[in-house]
Amino acid sequence: MMEQKKTDKKKRILEIRNLRVLFPVHKRWLPAVDGVSLCINPGEITGVVGESGSGKSVMSQSVLRLRDHDTAVRYEGEILFHEEDLLKKPLREMQDIRGNSISVIFQDPLNSLSPVHTVGSQLEEVLLLHKKISREEARKKAVQMLGLTGIPDPATNMKKYPFELSGGMQQRVMIAMALACEPELLIADEPTTALDVTIQEQILHLIKELNDRLGMSVLFITHDMGAVSRLCHSVKVMYLGQVVEDIRTEELFRNPLHPYTQGLLACIPHLHVKRGIKLPTIQGTVPSLSNIPEGCHFCTRCAYADEKCRKLAPPPVEAAPGHIVRCWKYTEKERRA
Ligand SMILES: Nc1ncnc2c1ncn2[C@@H]1O[C@H](COP(=O)(O)OP(=O)(O)O)[C@@H](O)[C@H]1O
Ligand SMILES: [Mg+2]
Repeated sequence: MMEQKKTDKKKRILEIRNLRVLFPVHKRWLPAVDGVSLCINPGEITGVVGESGSGKSVMSQSVLRLRDHDTAVRYEGEILFHEEDLLKKPLREMQDIRGNSISVIFQDPLNSLSPVHTVGSQLEEVLLLHKKISREEARKKAVQMLGLTGIPDPATNMKKYPFELSGGMQQRVMIAMALACEPELLIADEPTTALDVTIQEQILHLIKELNDRLGMSVLFITHDMGAVSRLCHSVKVMYLGQVVEDIRTEELFRNPLHPYTQGLLACIPHLHVKRGIKLPTIQGTVPSLSNIPEGCHFCTRCAYADEKCRKLAPPPVEAAPGHIVRCWKYTEKERRA
């Protein structure tokens, strides 16, 4: 399996090693995340794709331990942020990291904003919590951040309550709050799913621009392959708690290896026609955690699955430098070579 090269280590902002996240379901601990290893490079947008129920949200929320408060949860493995394991930190230390060095934006901005405070005062609070600045400085910075996210007349819109703003504007406020303390890493979990198509485009454009301009790393979770192609430098394809393929974006559209990745790409109209290759489509739906197959997690829906796939779980292998895939097809090929 993959040995991390020591020389590359410094370049990584976040490294997840063998992460498992388990929840109690009917008195059994079941893994919503089941052995995920991945790296996020500084200044890059790292995509995470996969159908609903793949474990994208649980995996990304584990980075900030966002589930610890409201549910029983067990972690195994490591989440290294600047080589410190976030899973070992007491929750009060996580408070210093949240919204400060690592920020998060979710699908539904209204759920994350307080309805009883103006957006300006919420932004100022974030700044006052993490930065040693005066209220006056916080106010100035809040106006500046709202402007940066493309909110018109920020000094006036600051005084509004979330419900007085459109969905697109609310998401811009969330982004302004997430970016207020200049985090090193922004986790964006399907940030545009709840928005109109034109607003989606604007928000995606904004994330790309902020990444270009501020060099901020982004973990970008989506089920939109089109957005991946325009935004992401690399992509982790998740299925039933595992990263089944880890690939640079340009390779994703040239040489997808895992049958699941190929199936996701087959859902994009015209793509397979252009490439002149017929990609297999995916049948059925993601099984629940209590029905995870014994062998390869994808075997119940895979057009190529055989007896071995149903019995044994394939290990991740490096099919080409930096291109990791979890499928017996490529494991055997590598062994023969
Ligand atoms: N607190 C919980 N208890 C039990 N199962 C959970 C809990 N939270 C999430 N899950 C399960 O974990 C799996 C992954 O969920 P999630 O990360 O939300 O998927 P995604 O974001 O890829 O749609 C799902 O099967 C979901 O039902
Ligand atoms: Mg999700």
